[in-house]
Amino acid sequence: MLSEQSAATVRATLPAVAGAIDEITERFYEGLFTAHPELLRDLFNRGNQAAGTQRRALAGSIAAFATYLVDRPDERPDAMLQRIAHKHASLGIAPEQYEVVHEHLFAAIAEILGDAVTPEVAAAWTEVYWLMANALIAIERRLYEGRGGGGWREWEVVERVEETADVATFWLRPADGTPVPDFRPGQYVSVQVELPDGARQIRQYSLSGAPGSSAHRISVKRVHGDAAPDGEVSNHLHARMEVGNRLRLSDPYGDLVLDADEAPLLLASAGIGVTPMIAMLEQLAVTGHRGPVTVVHADRSPAEHALRADHEAYAGKLPDAAVHFWYERPEPGHPADRTGLVDLSAMAITSGTRAYLCGPLPFMRAVRTQLIGKGVAAADIHYEVFGPDLWLAQD
Ligand SMILES: Cc1cc2nc3c(=O)[nH]c(=O)nc-3n(C[C@H](O)[C@H](O)[C@H](O)COP(=O)(O)OP(=O)(O)OC[C@H]3O[C@@H](n4cnc5c(N)ncnc54)[C@H](O)[C@@H]3O)c2cc1C
Ligand code: HEM
Repeated sequence: MLSEQSAATVRATLPAVAGAIDEITERFYEGLFTAHPELLRDLFNRGNQAAGTQRRALAGSIAAFATYLVDRPDERPDAMLQRIAHKHASLGIAPEQYEVVHEHLFAAIAEILGDAVTPEVAAAWTEVYWLMANALIAIERRLYEGRGGGGWREWEVVERVEETADVATFWLRPADGTPVPDFRPGQYVSVQVELPDGARQIRQYSLSGAPGSSAHRISVKRVHGDAAPDGEVSNHLHARMEVGNRLRLSDPYGDLVLDADEAPLLLASAGIGVTPMIAMLEQLAVTGHRGPVTVVHADRSPAEHALRADHEAYAGKLPDAAVHFWYERPEPGHPADRTGLVDLSAMAITSGTRAYLCGPLPFMRAVRTQLIGKGVAAADIHYEVFGPDLWLAQD
């Protein structure tokens, strides 16, 4: 909890900090990467940095945390902290790195806000930073302990399957023959690859098979840049990863996990957002789940619908499942009322439904709005964003 004195100072300066967040972010990363170029090369996503998009997540979440502390001093935004800590754990973030971020973040704040940063203001925001950092460090420590220490391991591609023109599935096994770590459906691994210029870039990929298999399965969509550069890691995986090749994987992490009891479930995905849903559906099928499950998926066309056969097969094994596939460009014979963008208005969705969403943000916003309109509780709508989570600040 924030001290009373700091709370007043933070409340008074929040508008100035929040208003300058983009400039602070820019200066922060400039300072951080000048002092530590290896962090840009081997830890942060340099595509996001180059594009200038989605960089606000880190500093923005501190401002969101501060708002939370002053508005609701007796609570802790656990959902936000968990989400960040899982991402950090998958990246192998260590406690001592928080000192480095602190140094460059506060240098940026002092430079951008100038004289407004009195010693009192600096002290209050330092308190906010370490409250958040220590909460994250504690959750990350528990996550690492739960994995027996964590860390990167070499994995080998044991099978590759072309799912669609742009999506390939890779089956992976630990190169040292150790067992495949357990995970919960919905979780992801970080994949680190060495690119031709020597940089070791990291991206996350959801596990697209159920736990208990002798190999991890990931399904990767190749990102076309169109006017911008092509996605680095996805294209590298497509171009270079054949059976016998190796890559480095983290243990599985992620806070979007299937919680299946008797509540009706809704699994809604769009595009490559299908991957965690397939893991969940397979798990439901394998465990003989009997409750009602509604499966919704949106894609441009049936040919672009990755893992469609699994989608249908696992749903087909459930005694009480309804499947609704929506295509912008459907095949002949596809129902006209499931053409175009997802529209849940004609679907029976009960208010006690627990929903899992994964896909582009506009898709998730639309589905979330429709679900809330049908009486589904906001707390029962869970989601995964395939990029830095800018929704965090709104939670
Ligand atoms: C939890 C989680 C789970 C995920 N699961 C999956 C999954 O199961 N399957 C899957 O396919 N993906 C998944 N993703 C997404 C994946 O992690 C990558 O983000 C994706 O593969 C793109 O990475 P990339 O290296 O190919 O693209 P990047 O190199 O990261 O590029 C990203 C974007 O930035 C643009 N860009 C790059 N450089 C510039 C520049 N200089 N100027 C302008 N724009 C630029 C690119 O054009 C591209 O659109 C997941 C992400 C998360 C966070
Ligand atoms: C209090 C301190 C910190 C906060 C509040 C914070 C916050 C965040 C947030 C909100 C995200 C996005 C989460 C998501 O995508 O769902 C993120 C991602 C990330 N964080 Fe942190 N973070 C902190 C410290 C650190 C430290 C110390 C490091 C290591 C130097 C670090 C490295 C990263 C990286 C590499 C990502 C992934 C984004 C990318 O690759 O561009 N963070 N962090």
